[in-house]
Amino acid sequence: MILPTINPTTTTAWEALKSHYKTIKDTHLKDLFTQHPDRATIFSTEWNDFYIDYSKNRIDQTTKKLLLDLAKETKLDQAIQHYFEGSFINETENRAVLHTALRAPESCHITVDDKDIIPEITSVKEKIKSFSNQVISGALTGYTGKTFTDIVNIGIGGSDLGPAMITESLAYYKNHLTLHFISNVDGDHIHQNLKELNPETTLFVVVSKTFSTQETISNATTARNWFTQHAPQDAVSKHFVAVSSTISNVTEFGIAEDNIFPLWDWVGGRFSLWSAVGLSISLSIGYKNYDALLTGAYEMDEHFKNTSFEENIPVLLGLLSIWYNNFFEVESEAIIPYSQYLHRLPAYLQQGIMESNGKSIDRNGDPIDYQTGTIIWGEPGTNAQHAFFQLIHQGTKLIPTEFIGFKNSLFGDQDHQNKLMANFFAQTEALMNGKTKNEALGELTSSTSSEEQQQKLASFKTFIGNKPTTTILIDKLTPRNLGALIAMYEHRIFVQGIIWNIFSYDQWGVELGKQLATAILSEIDTDQIGNHDASTTTLLHHYLRNK
Ligand code: F6P
Repeated sequence: MILPTINPTTTTAWEALKSHYKTIKDTHLKDLFTQHPDRATIFSTEWNDFYIDYSKNRIDQTTKKLLLDLAKETKLDQAIQHYFEGSFINETENRAVLHTALRAPESCHITVDDKDIIPEITSVKEKIKSFSNQVISGALTGYTGKTFTDIVNIGIGGSDLGPAMITESLAYYKNHLTLHFISNVDGDHIHQNLKELNPETTLFVVVSKTFSTQETISNATTARNWFTQHAPQDAVSKHFVAVSSTISNVTEFGIAEDNIFPLWDWVGGRFSLWSAVGLSISLSIGYKNYDALLTGAYEMDEHFKNTSFEENIPVLLGLLSIWYNNFFEVESEAIIPYSQYLHRLPAYLQQGIMESNGKSIDRNGDPIDYQTGTIIWGEPGTNAQHAFFQLIHQGTKLIPTEFIGFKNSLFGDQDHQNKLMANFFAQTEALMNGKTKNEALGELTSSTSSEEQQQKLASFKTFIGNKPTTTILIDKLTPRNLGALIAMYEHRIFVQGIIWNIFSYDQWGVELGKQLATAILSEIDTDQIGNHDASTTTLLHHYLRNK
């Protein structure tokens, strides 16, 4: 066993947190601010272009101390060392977890199986740089000599969400190339995209770590068939490149070895955008911006590795999540970026957080009797305010919400920016303070309704408040700051996984559905329904009737 295997509920800190919870659970955030007017300073931290305010959370100094004790008792410090050193902490797959190495400077030495992996990483980065420069500049052309106009990224899960989220988030920095992302095995997805494409000017980037994923191989095959219907067979090599760690599967598919950008088994799918999986990002925003993204992530790695837990952003935010999940027993957390560019961030984080920490067996192999894996959801503000914020404000569920905002807009329209940010600040204030019935009544007194009617209406217009929020205020949406933000979430996943005593880097839970889909597909293809439960059998009959 490399990582500690401590059941967090057996620690002294956990017991203390349980008792402490009883003393604080009914305290209103407003009262916490009255008692300690300096809470905004105490519970905030500044780092590079980031200002994190976690003072609007239902914590006091004791909560913070006990949560930090929990991190110490579960030996988080030792685990962090193992993580960065490349120990095989993905024990169920017998692998290291080294996406951090992909953003480390060339001068670092990081070994896996006694081999320094930095030279290999550097050479792949060189390949990404040279290839993207040539495509962007037009030095590399399609089979008829025309320059590329469209890039189609074919992949799913981590081989799609990372590049898709980043290219959307950094669309302001993009060049003339149009990016398309095809992930779903739903044929309408690929055919809708192909309809708009010109084979002469389209470059396909097929991304699959294993190069055996059903969705990706089906989509890549359909794309190649479409391409060769318009272009000669030998033109495929000019229009198809692959990103994979399984070279033999790629060559078998028909993509030449020269056109393969490799990655390694120590890069997890959902943490792979820093590897060649980020090729589409580099094509879209240029290598220099892609490199700045990596630099921001590296800076967050250094912060996480070297900062005391008291001021350590991923540690503090991870502990807060545990506080709500395990003591308040909240069911979900919302992430609301106040930037339309970040509209894919919640979906990206859903994979990162839920695929990593949705586990119910601990690192000893025993079933877990406490909550793990938080449910994450969200949409950009202000749109979210006009959709589901009603439930966060007045619903029966407690939903800790994270607000991500930027001090500066990219196009510099100050009027819009002020309105956007006024909403950003107003929401956390409203969620915390709420509105008392008296305040609601006060607003109604000038109305013509009777006192009885006013009393009744005031109940509906009352907000209890006391809804926890964390505010992440960043100077500007730049590649570097985005890199740091994403790395921050990656490290939070790690922190929570370590404390919950689970393995965060495998994903066995996605396998069963894949196995059954393979079996059902052959039944559909042969019209022979096998042995299923009555519900599935009936559904299959209904489907086959229409075939
Ligand atoms: O859904 C499971 C998963 O293995 C993800 O973890 C991964 O990101 C995705 O499938 C795609 O895998 P691959 O890159 O091997 O096609």
